[in-house]
Amino acid sequence: MIPVKDISKFDFESVDIDPFWNVGSEKEFKMHRIHAYPAKFPAFITTKALEYANTQGYGVTKIADVFCGCGTSAFEAKRNDIDFWGCDINPVATLITKVKSRQYQKTKLEDYLAAILKFYRENPIIECYSTAPERLQYWYRDRQFNELAHLKHAIINSTPIDSDYRLFFFCAFSNILKPTSVWLTKSIKPQVDPLKQPADVISSFESQCDFMMAANQEIDNLGDANSEIITASFLASEVQAPKVDMIITSPPYVTSYEYADLHQLSSLWLDYVDDFRELREGAIGSLYHDYNFNRELKRLNNTGTKIVTWLLDQYKPKARSVAKYFLDMQKVAKKSADMLNSNGLAIFVIGNTEYKGVRIDNAKHLAESMMDAGFREISVTKRKISKKILTPYRDERGKFTTNAGGRKVYSEEFILLGRK
Ligand SMILES: C[S@@+](CC[C@H](N)C(=O)[O-])C[C@H]1O[C@@H](n2cnc3c(N)ncnc32)[C@H](O)[C@@H]1O
Repeated sequence: MIPVKDISKFDFESVDIDPFWNVGSEKEFKMHRIHAYPAKFPAFITTKALEYANTQGYGVTKIADVFCGCGTSAFEAKRNDIDFWGCDINPVATLITKVKSRQYQKTKLEDYLAAILKFYRENPIIECYSTAPERLQYWYRDRQFNELAHLKHAIINSTPIDSDYRLFFFCAFSNILKPTSVWLTKSIKPQVDPLKQPADVISSFESQCDFMMAANQEIDNLGDANSEIITASFLASEVQAPKVDMIITSPPYVTSYEYADLHQLSSLWLDYVDDFRELREGAIGSLYHDYNFNRELKRLNNTGTKIVTWLLDQYKPKARSVAKYFLDMQKVAKKSADMLNSNGLAIFVIGNTEYKGVRIDNAKHLAESMMDAGFREISVTKRKISKKILTPYRDERGKFTTNAGGRKVYSEEFILLGRK
């Protein structure tokens, strides 16, 4: 860990990679792979953070992840018998996190699955594609749509209302929605693949359930630590975060992923919204925002002001999005400081990005925001994301490319640490 003192002179890119934060000491549990999720961090980051806190003499009994995503830290907290508070604006994220945060009875899962499959096989599949919402018609061929609607009906009919067991099977359902659609596989931008052969609905669901049930069996005893998971913007004034000893989180990046767009199939199928675009509101790092740019600009810290000023010359819409992101992250630093017990630790995992040759120094901006929010002893280390990225840019459609005209994707990220 390198102390960050004079922020104006500190060059984050020159920080060395620290082996401590690069490799986990144990195999990742299957539970971490029950549902696809963009930009999740490796599970060992949470265990390393707990280990680090331990060696520094901080007693940690409750942790929070204020951007909990698919629940990586939630599961690790539970496994380590530590209370957890998590928050994410994306209802698909909190669905996965809730499922990961509890253990299910094997026989009950088997019985419910048998009941779902029996209902599915013994009842006729209704032809309802023609009445489907337009957006879902866009993503599905009629056969897969009808079968998915029937499967959803089978889950609702066979599991207790409002139960964790229903959530388990909804999570399984959610993870087969892309393979059974015409969504271009592995694309981070929603686009149709006209040549795609959608996967078979019921066999995808059965293998997904088998995998999730094996993941549930892999853990002997998850312990009885408390987990509270809420679906809301961390910055919303009505979100009253509890006091915790440690925050471990990876914030969104600016304009990298539109989580609402990426999870539109799950949000629509699971009736979280009628129009998935509503879920863009309040998402940090989104391209969609409505705020008074000229008035808010003066609230940016020095690092933010410098970067936004560079961008303003040539790329005004991009500058507005980056400014909004920085302003939000300044509030995140402040709200995070407020929720920590005294001496508590905040650990942010964050990477830099680049746009048309301008480095968007998220790490430096966040370090300055942490200083302004009253954090002490801010330090940083760097970790490698993957062994080697041969195609380090993304093109306009979100695909990896070697063309340097695109958006640069770094193969390293920073771990920023601060103490209350
Ligand atoms: C990099 S991901 C976190 C991934 C997570 N560490 C994991 O392992 O799955 C960032 C998350 O921030 C969430 N997010 C964006 N804006 C938010 C907001 N205002 N409040 C809470 N969560 C938000 C996104 O939905 C996304 O899940």
